[in-house]
Amino acid sequence: MTRILAIETSCDETAAAVVDDGVVVRSSIVVSQEAIHRRWGGVVPELASREHAVHLAPAVRRALEDAGTGWPAIDAVAVTRGPGLAGALVVGLNFARAAAAARGVPVVAVNHLEAHLHAGWLARPGEAASGAVPDFPVVGLVVSGGHTELVVMRDRAAIKVVGRTRDDAAGEAFDKVARILGLGYPGGPAIQAAAALAPGSKVEGREVLTRPWMRGSFDFSFSGLKTAMLRHVEGDLQGHRTPVGNPSRLAEVARAIGAEGRTEVDERTARLARAFQEAVVDVLVTKTCDAAIAHGARQVVLAGGVAANLRLREAMLAASPVPVLVPPLEYCTDNAAMVGAVAYWQLLRGEIGGPGIDIRPNLALGER
Ligand code: KG4
Ligand code: ZN
Repeated sequence: MTRILAIETSCDETAAAVVDDGVVVRSSIVVSQEAIHRRWGGVVPELASREHAVHLAPAVRRALEDAGTGWPAIDAVAVTRGPGLAGALVVGLNFARAAAAARGVPVVAVNHLEAHLHAGWLARPGEAASGAVPDFPVVGLVVSGGHTELVVMRDRAAIKVVGRTRDDAAGEAFDKVARILGLGYPGGPAIQAAAALAPGSKVEGREVLTRPWMRGSFDFSFSGLKTAMLRHVEGDLQGHRTPVGNPSRLAEVARAIGAEGRTEVDERTARLARAFQEAVVDVLVTKTCDAAIAHGARQVVLAGGVAANLRLREAMLAASPVPVLVPPLEYCTDNAAMVGAVAYWQLLRGEIGGPGIDIRPNLALGER
């Protein structure tokens, strides 16, 4: 059995986990900085680094405690080296390097996006690990705050990007559109919650958004959808919005999603949030299914923070020609368990960081 202590500090979550044999998550601690960055409407790099420095050591201690293990049982320390914020990555990498040196175990430096792709193959303690095996070739959709990439995995190590966004990442589009609609940060969960309040069962009329198909490629583009939403809101400013029924329920949702300065989510906002979500989901699902067919995939894997979107999960499961692996919600957004998963396979291949190991803020998928 190989027990890995994994660390993740690439963006705004400080995370530590203990993972056995790349599959069984013994513990997973995630300290979110969301409340700190929310007032700025996005991640502030300097604040993120400082928070990682404060919270990482306690997170590691808790991960070991929760796993019911200690340093002597740890065979390697895994850490995200990129892509991500340089000042944030360096906190995790330095910690990992120091801890590994002190314990005499290797450091395994991991690609954050590759880690996201492995999240679907994790099993919680007690869960049968057999349900979580990849069936290659796999088509993976990585949709996060900074990335939208469609990949083909021939095996664990051979990852080829077949499509990517030409402008905004999917999560970035959710975040920007949430700001346009006054729905707070982070935008993904806010839009999902607002969309769930929209009356009726489908988007109709002028609210149906034109899909950016980018025909002839597996690439994506989301900035046009953002502009279309802006036009709707500008149009509304010249007219007026119609508040809907049950205001107390709406106020509750607005509070829950951090829609600062708003006391309610009106019906029009809910309908626009749904129109946007449907358009993004439609494009992501259609392109992923097309790629699965074109590349003879036997499995589709969803990954990244946007994979937490319930509508995306549901639509992908309904449309895919092959089985879809959807990670549990807590392994979709940033976490260290996924870092421990991918590190295990690197360790088996002997991909161990040397003394000069460094961060790689611009690392692409397929690189390590
Ligand atoms: O993977 P992640 O936690 O961090 C990055 O590596 O970027 O992804 C964060 C992104 C944010 O843009 C956030 O708005 C989005 O994931 N997100 C969602 C949902 N939950 C998080 N987007 C849509 N629906 C959600 N439920
Ligand atoms: Zn991420």
